[in-house]
This record gives sequence, structure tokens and C-alpha cells, in this order.
Amino acid sequence: MTQMVERGTLRDQLVAWRRHLHMNPEVGFEEHETAAYIEGELRKMPGLTVTRPTATSVLAVLKGGKPGRTVLLRADIDALPIEEENTFEFRSRKPGVMHACGHDGHTAILLGVASLLAESAQEVPGEIRMIFQHAEEIGPGGAEELVMETNLMDGVDVVTGLHLNSQLPVGVVAVKPGAFMAAPDSLHLTIRGRGGHGAHPEQTVDPIAVGAQVVTNLQHVVSRNVAALDALVVSITSFHAGTTHNVIPDTAVLQGTVRSFDPELRQRAPRLIERVIRGVCEAHGATYELKYEFGYRPVINTDWVAAQLKEIALATVGSEHYQDAQPTMGGEDFSAYLQKAPGAYFNVGAGSDAADSRWPHHHPRFTIDEDSLVTGVQMLQAAALRLAQPE
Ligand code: NI
Repeated sequence: MTQMVERGTLRDQLVAWRRHLHMNPEVGFEEHETAAYIEGELRKMPGLTVTRPTATSVLAVLKGGKPGRTVLLRADIDALPIEEENTFEFRSRKPGVMHACGHDGHTAILLGVASLLAESAQEVPGEIRMIFQHAEEIGPGGAEELVMETNLMDGVDVVTGLHLNSQLPVGVVAVKPGAFMAAPDSLHLTIRGRGGHGAHPEQTVDPIAVGAQVVTNLQHVVSRNVAALDALVVSITSFHAGTTHNVIPDTAVLQGTVRSFDPELRQRAPRLIERVIRGVCEAHGATYELKYEFGYRPVINTDWVAAQLKEIALATVGSEHYQDAQPTMGGEDFSAYLQKAPGAYFNVGAGSDAADSRWPHHHPRFTIDEDSLVTGVQMLQAAALRLAQPE
């Protein structure tokens, strides 16, 4: 009798792992209890070599009994600084911290895959590396650290991983070749005017009025400077200035996000944006400081890997549950692994009315339909076995 059967059904075990993680969330670079828990669970599975590449990440390596390639499977393990509003009994026990993106589910899925592969190691081709990655939600990101500062990627032939998606029905698998997720870059802008009495704006340079013009004019970068079919998003998401009703302040501080897929457009965007800021500020006698930060690279799936994942999905969930994925302007540090090896990232649906799990990601009521955990394990296990087949 296998260990998995002794511990109950696969689904029961996945749910237990996910709920433990959900109750005990930790934000990026602080996942000490999470990593210890994952390591403890992996050490119960015979045949895995378990190490800690960084302080809060965990790596399990399975050497298969048959020749084959080296496949990296990735799950992210970190939570978000959000106060959970769900009321179920396994809600977060930590004030202000919540698994609001499904990474608790990703971790449970990869534990499930590790467990199943370990039980059938003699039948597994090649080498399967399973990385439980820290700090996906916080730049510069855990993936970059693992790729640049450890030997995780040495000898990896192909990489894959999944994200649960509450906006897709539970049971659905969605795959896309090519551009899948955007580069999430950011801007931090300080506009310096000259403050004064709210009754005498003529004696001031009003940074609020200038900032408002900057916000509206930046929309022209997208609508008038970039071809309609080249995806670019510029959103000003924060605008802080002033303290009271009758004082014009000296400064206004704005922040925003800039999302793109195309590398050339990504490099061009900061120049287009600064040209607008400079022009508006000069026109009104204000000065500015612009800090522009490049975030994660875009996730560009390798075509042949995405094609194999699609075949696996059709065989695993059937054509009625398969969708071609839509590209999203969201960002993901899975892209760091793609610098070193071909690979593809895909989505598994986790939304249902039954589980009240259609809330958007990063919402205080986000949750998943736990049936998605089983689909995730089936897909990722099948992907590992297929991708590890010798060429
Ligand atoms: Ni996420």
C-alpha cells in the first residue's frame, strides 16, 4: 500500500496541505515557517533529495530510474500583506497577511506531484527538480535570486509551472505559446512647484494642477505614440499632494505601473513617458524627478513547450475543459527561469460559485475551489513525465 493511500485520498491530502498554508501565510523573503513546513513534508517522501537553496526556498530533486532530461517544476510560496475577509475556519491566523493569490494551492499541488513521483521513481525518466520558490510578489523576486545566485538552473533542459486562476472555471486548463504575461515596470514621479495660499494661485506653481495634466497627457503615450496592436498599459495608481483645503503644496508625488510585452517597446516607453512629463512641467514652470524601475521580464512561453502542454491538457482534462489562454498584463517572475532554459507557464481554473471563488486575485475575499488542486497535480505530473522523456 502506498503512503498516499495510507494518508487518505490525494484530494484530502492536498486540501490539508493547502489549508495549513492558508492559515499560516508569510510574505516574501519571510517564509521561514512555510519553508520549514514544506521541507518537513518533503522529508516524509522517500527518494527525494531535499535542500534549501536560499533561506526561505526549498528544492526537492528526484532522480528517475530511466534515462531522460532534467525538468524544473516551480511553485511560488509567498503570501500578500492583505487582511483576509473570508470567514471559513481555515482563514489566515496572521493579521494583515493572506494567501490572496493562490500560492498556498501552488505549494500543495507541487507537494502532491513530489509525493506521486517519489512513489513511482523507478518509472520516472530523467531528473525532476521541484523548486518551492520564495518571494514572487516582492521585487526583485525570489526567482531572480535562485537563477543568479544558486546553481538551480545548471543542466535544466526545460521548466514549467502553473498559476491557479479564479477567473477561469474550475477544471479548465489554459495554455498559450509566446507572449503570455507582461513586464511590470514602475514609475515614481515627484513634481516640484512652489506652494502658497490657496486663495492666490497666481503666486504659486501648483504641483497638483501640473500633476493632473501629467496624468491625462500620459494617456496619449498609449493612444497616440504606440501602435494599436502593440500592447502597452500606463496607469497612474497613486497621487499624493497637500494636507489641507487652503494651502497649495510644494510637491506632488505620483506612482504608476507600465506594462508591456515587446522588448523594444519596453525600452522606448520610459523615453516617451519622460518626454510628456518634461513638457508639461516646463510649460507650467515646475520641475520633476522621475525614477523609472524595470520589473520582472515578460513571460514569453517557448512555442514547443506550450504545444506539448496543450497536448497534455487535452489528454488530461479533455477538449471541453481546454482553452487557449489569453495574454495578461499581469507580471510574473517565472520569466527569470526562461532566461536560462526553454519553458512555459500555464493556468488552471479555480473559480466556481459552489466555492464562492470567483473573487479576483489579491482581493481580501480571494479563495480557490479546491477541486483545482487535483487538476493542477494531474497536469503538472503529466507535464513532468512528458517533458522529461529523452529526445
Ligand atoms: Ni500569484
